[in-house]
Amino acid sequence: MPISKLIIHDFRNIQRAHLHFNKKINVITGLNGSGKTALLEAIYFLGLGRSFRSHLTNRIIAHEEVEFILFAEIEHQNLQTSIGLKKTRKGQSVLKINSCITTKLSALTLYLPIQLITPESISLLSGSPQNRRSFIDWGVFYHDPQFYKTWARIKRLLKQRNAALKQCKTYNELRLWDNELCFLSTEISEQRQRYFQQLTPLIENTIADFLPEFKIKMSFFCGWDNKNKSLQQYFIDNFNRDKQLGYTTAGPQKADVRFKIGAYPLVDVLSRGQLKLFVYALRLAQCLFLNKVNKKQCVLLIDDFSSELDKSKQQILAKHITQSDAQLFISVIQENHIEQLFEQKYSVFHVKHGKITNTDSTN
Ligand SMILES: Nc1ncnc2c1ncn2[C@@H]1O[C@H](COP(=O)(O)OP(=O)(O)OP(=O)(O)O)[C@@H](O)[C@H]1O
Ligand SMILES: [Mg+2]
Repeated sequence: MPISKLIIHDFRNIQRAHLHFNKKINVITGLNGSGKTALLEAIYFLGLGRSFRSHLTNRIIAHEEVEFILFAEIEHQNLQTSIGLKKTRKGQSVLKINSCITTKLSALTLYLPIQLITPESISLLSGSPQNRRSFIDWGVFYHDPQFYKTWARIKRLLKQRNAALKQCKTYNELRLWDNELCFLSTEISEQRQRYFQQLTPLIENTIADFLPEFKIKMSFFCGWDNKNKSLQQYFIDNFNRDKQLGYTTAGPQKADVRFKIGAYPLVDVLSRGQLKLFVYALRLAQCLFLNKVNKKQCVLLIDDFSSELDKSKQQILAKHITQSDAQLFISVIQENHIEQLFEQKYSVFHVKHGKITNTDSTN
């Protein structure tokens, strides 16, 4: 699902841009503060209806302006989809998909499967389980778009259950929430488990190249010990504890993915550059899976490509990025930082004080 065209109005320091992208590799160059991340952020915004840097629209609209506008054309199986998004300082959002107005920004996710890698991306490994749940859920969603609906229902049921926990005296009073909650939780936990199982060989394949010196064990934890107990039994056994704490201590809201080297968590063993490579392996496996199984092309945004990785690792990485078949947007300070990394032709977009110029395909 490559983006063929992007128009930007008043997004961060980019006042006006009218860009035609390469279906495969796009390199964004420019000095510090020129607007490279802003361009990646604009693409990300069109894919997810939000930024990866700020949840405040006011910070993103260009200073002194009242709104930003993004417009893109996306290609998929010879069909063209146009997406227009406007956000104003007053909080209004207008989204048009193929000229039809829709209010739900979440509708965007189906059109542009985006993977993002920035210098902060190692928080996928070092941060809270929430980050790893989002990682898994991204893939499950593209496999089954109903997933987020079910997940939203589970979150509502959990909220009601937690409120009821504080008032009820016996477990029986919770059964009303728990029957549906246990049914849906088991369903999405199985979906997550299946997806992770299918993803694992793809991840292993990449890390065999990226980090051959390590034997990394990966396991999915569904949120409770499902080998020995059903979730309902867990709820019954933990009723007094949950009541005391005032919230539900087991369930899909506690799911996680665990990575270990020997007896140690991966984050305690690998260096920053190695952790970053591992994040690349995870994200690229998702791109490959989406491509192979769901027949969709990922848009891969990589900010600050050359940071923290030596030349030989960059070379291996470039090979895997090309194999993933994603449409790539990659930012570097200077084009010579990626010299000879990609065999294919690519387009270069040079950014200077928010002005973007496209130099012809090189390489
Ligand atoms: N709302 C805004 N309106 C106008 N300019 C903004 C706004 N928000 C940020 N900026 C400016 O946009 C410029 C571009 O920032 P950006 O982070 O995209 O730079 P960059 O090219 O990625 O730099 P680096 O190489 O240091 O990462 C910065 O100078 C920043 O001060
Ligand atoms: Mg930047």
